[in-house]
Parts: sequence; C-alpha cells; structure tokens
Amino acid sequence: MKDDILILGIESSCDETAAAVVKNGRTVLSNVISSQIELHKLYGGVVPEIASRKHIEKVNQVIESSLEEADVTLNDIDAIAVTYGPGLVGALLVGVAEAKAISYATNKPLVGVHHIEGHVSANYIEHPDLEPPFLCLIVSGGHTHLVMVKDYGKYQIIGRTRDDAAGEAFDKVARAIGLGYPGGPKIDKLSKEGNSKAITFPQGHIADAPYDFSFSGVKSAVLNHINSCKMKGIQINSADIAASFQESVVDVLAKRTVLAAKNLGVSKIALAGGVASNQGLRAKMDKVCQKNNFSLYYPSPIFCTDNAAMIGAAGYYEFINGTRHGLDLNAIPNLKIGQR
Ligand code: KG4
Ligand code: ZN
Repeated sequence: MKDDILILGIESSCDETAAAVVKNGRTVLSNVISSQIELHKLYGGVVPEIASRKHIEKVNQVIESSLEEADVTLNDIDAIAVTYGPGLVGALLVGVAEAKAISYATNKPLVGVHHIEGHVSANYIEHPDLEPPFLCLIVSGGHTHLVMVKDYGKYQIIGRTRDDAAGEAFDKVARAIGLGYPGGPKIDKLSKEGNSKAITFPQGHIADAPYDFSFSGVKSAVLNHINSCKMKGIQINSADIAASFQESVVDVLAKRTVLAAKNLGVSKIALAGGVASNQGLRAKMDKVCQKNNFSLYYPSPIFCTDNAAMIGAAGYYEFINGTRHGLDLNAIPNLKIGQR
C-alpha cells in the first residue's frame, strides 16, 4: 500500500474555478485558479449566471493543469474532493457534476467538502504544527463566523454576523467611495494613506450575544458620512474613510475573537477567508495575540481567497475520517457548518 494520500480538490462556489492536488492534507503539489474577477468587475459584483457559464468553460482546463503541474495522473489520485456548499447553486453544480463524473469514470471515492471548512483548513497548508483544538475567525465575502475547531471536521459555531459579512461590508464601502470590485484589497491599500482616527464609525453590538457581529451599521454610517459631505459641499477624503472604516471593522473582529478565546480557554487562534489577507486585520491580531500570549495562524493571501488547495486539505481529513459521498451528491447553496 502506498503511504501518501493524494486528493484532487475542486472549487467552484463563487467566481473562481479552481483545482489542486494536495498530499496528505498539508502539502500542495499544485494550486490552479482561474479567476473571473475581470468579468464581474463590469457589473460591480458577481453575476451568478455568468459565473456558472464561465465555470463550465474553465473547469476541465483547470483540472488538467492541476494534474500536470503536480506531475500526476488521475490514476495517482486517491479521492476527489469538491465544494458542494454553501455558495451560488449554479456555480457549485459545475464543480459537483465534474467531480461526480471523474469519480464515476475512475471509480475513485467522492468527498463533498463544506466551503467554510475548506477556508479553515487552508491554515493546515503552511502551518504543519497547527492541530485542533483552535478558535478560527472566518471572514469572507459571504461569511463571518467565529468557530471552535474541536477536531478535524468537528466545528462548533461560537459567533456569526447578524447581517452583512465582513467582506461584503468592505465591498459595499469600496463601491460607495468609487473603488470598484472587489473592494476589500482596494480599501486595504488605500487605508495606508489615510488616518484611521479621522472618523469614528460605529461598531455593532448585539445584546446578549458577545461573539456575534453586525456590519450593516458601519456600512450605513459610511454612506451617511458621504451623503452629508456631499450636501455640505465638502470634498470626501476617501483614504480617511477607508482607514477609519477598516479600523472599525478589524477592531471589532479582534475584540470579539480575543474575548471568545479567553472565555473558552483557547490559546491558538487562526484566521481564514478572503478578509484574512487584510493587512490591518493581521497587524491588529498579531498585536492582541502577542499581548495575550495566543499563537496566531493565518494563510498566505493566495490561500485566504477562494482556492482548491484548501478543499484538498479539508477533503483529506474528511477522507481519512471515512466521509464518502455517492453520485447523488447535490449542491447545497445554504449548507450548514458540520452538516454532512
Ligand atoms: O473567501 P473569499 O475569496 O470568497 C468567499 O468565500 O466569499 O472572499 C472574498 C472577499 C471579498 O469580499 C473581498 O473584498 C475580500 O474577501 N477581501 C479582502 C481583502 N482581500 C479580499 N477584504 C479586506 N482586505 C483584503 N486585503
Ligand atoms: Zn470563500
């Protein structure tokens, strides 16, 4: 029996068509991503129908490249792991149908992976020392969750957003100050030129839910600030708005995460999702974790935003834990964390 386990990961839940080959859950042999950002930019956000069509065009090509880059063939692969939710249903279906076809044709096991569990598992790729239990702050375009990773594949939700996801707030604020889509990286960059104390934006508090988040208030406050400047004929300072908005969001994310870690008695904290590549968030978390003696982990930016290596990593742990899906696997747009 060969010792190494190779997983082919496939991801198509939103606007990235991605495939990767991952060895033993931690070593990335290839990580191919075909991004549709340029296409959706024209519309200021992801257009689901266009996303699905583009996934169909790209998926075979991306998988072939991932095998080539890893210098393997489908024969060498032990299982096919695919994101089956949450996400855009049409987009997810492309990856799921492709994975099922490969599984059927090669007679290799099929493992459905939860997209968010994939984001969490991105941390295993570059941190061989990271093992559960740990607390993970997942901040992406569609999700904001504080999750206790009790073991591989075992998650407990500690907190979540009540309205907008953190990335969604970044994207909406970016659009309001004319930065375009996707706004997160642009706000991150512009923030460096602004004063984060110039404007005090609110931080949403939810009564009796100390670990929950709310970002619709800060987003509305930014829009109100812009409108009020316009009405008074004052030129808006986009860099100050970006810096002050980012400070408000990363501060509340850091505060809630540290509070949860202290109360749960956890000493390891990981960040995941597109917003985890935000430099303000990383710097703030570095600072508070150092102060509180917590170990902090975060993936490189390429593994923060959507990719298939994270699906291969999560898929590996599902595979060795015995998770197998049949050819009746369906895309579940609102798949819950921990749901199988
Ligand atoms: O994880 P991801 O690629 O897709 C989802 O699963 O949602 O996250 C995309 C989100 C977008 O909202 C994007 O604006 C945000 O992550 N993002 C950032 C940064 N890079 C990406 N937000 C803030 N700062 C960044 N550097
Ligand atoms: Zn994602």
